[in-house]
Amino acid sequence: TTNKPSDFALPDVKDLKPLDSEAETAKRLAAYRAVDKNIDFENHRIIGIGSGSTVVYVAERLGQYLLDPKYKPFVEKFICIPTGFQSIQLILDNGLQLGSIERNPVIDIAFDGADEVDTNLQLIKGGGACLFQEKLVSTSSKKFIIVADYRKWSPTSLGVKWTRGVPLEVVPSAYVRVKSDLINKLNCKKVVLRQGGSAKAGPVVTDNNNFILDADFGPIKDPKSLHVQLKLLLGIVETGLFIDNADIAYIGNSDGTVLIA
Ligand code: 5RP
Repeated sequence: TTNKPSDFALPDVKDLKPLDSEAETAKRLAAYRAVDKNIDFENHRIIGIGSGSTVVYVAERLGQYLLDPKYKPFVEKFICIPTGFQSIQLILDNGLQLGSIERNPVIDIAFDGADEVDTNLQLIKGGGACLFQEKLVSTSSKKFIIVADYRKWSPTSLGVKWTRGVPLEVVPSAYVRVKSDLINKLNCKKVVLRQGGSAKAGPVVTDNNNFILDADFGPIKDPKSLHVQLKLLLGIVETGLFIDNADIAYIGNSDGTVLIA
């Protein structure tokens, strides 16, 4: 049949059929385009793979390249660095080689989703509670690429589209203290300890055995300064504000175009 791996030819983005929803189609478009335009098959070797539902399509696209005999010799040498358990699964499910950041502390290029992106490419991330490892991977990457759909693009400021608050990874024993410091010292409007699937599930526990607080500051005028103030509070391990970190963002639109910011 023509579907044997040796006959596989990379699908052209133009020929893809729409997915179930406009947003899903936009995510796939952004991710495929980002991979197609940014992977350097000759020179890249260590690839960071983020978390979330958009990066699924990044791993899928890399998996397609792996099936194409023209690209296979390059892609099978790639070592993919995950940002969490979902990301490990994505790498393995797409036949890619899994590596660790401990063995590969310098990453050539990393792809990740975002919960909100502003025009300066400042980001809110951590909707999936993987923000620490995502920040470790993205700040260890020579090039960090964001893939997202149109709902994440916030031309005015952060905190406008993503209204669930800035995700903060906190040491469990300090979460009550951090909550009160956020309200009393940093004028946070509302802060919630993130819970698992049901009320009975208890707090979400991160891959590093910490809790997540979602801290709503309303529209954020100066994300950099907020990030620095947050980091000074005892108990906050890392914030979901990714400052001066992303190099380029691919934002899939509902009309089939991609905004490159
Ligand atoms: C996880 C993240 C994700 O990248 C972010 O939540 C975006 O996810 P999605 O692509 O599903 O919208 O930061 O911690």
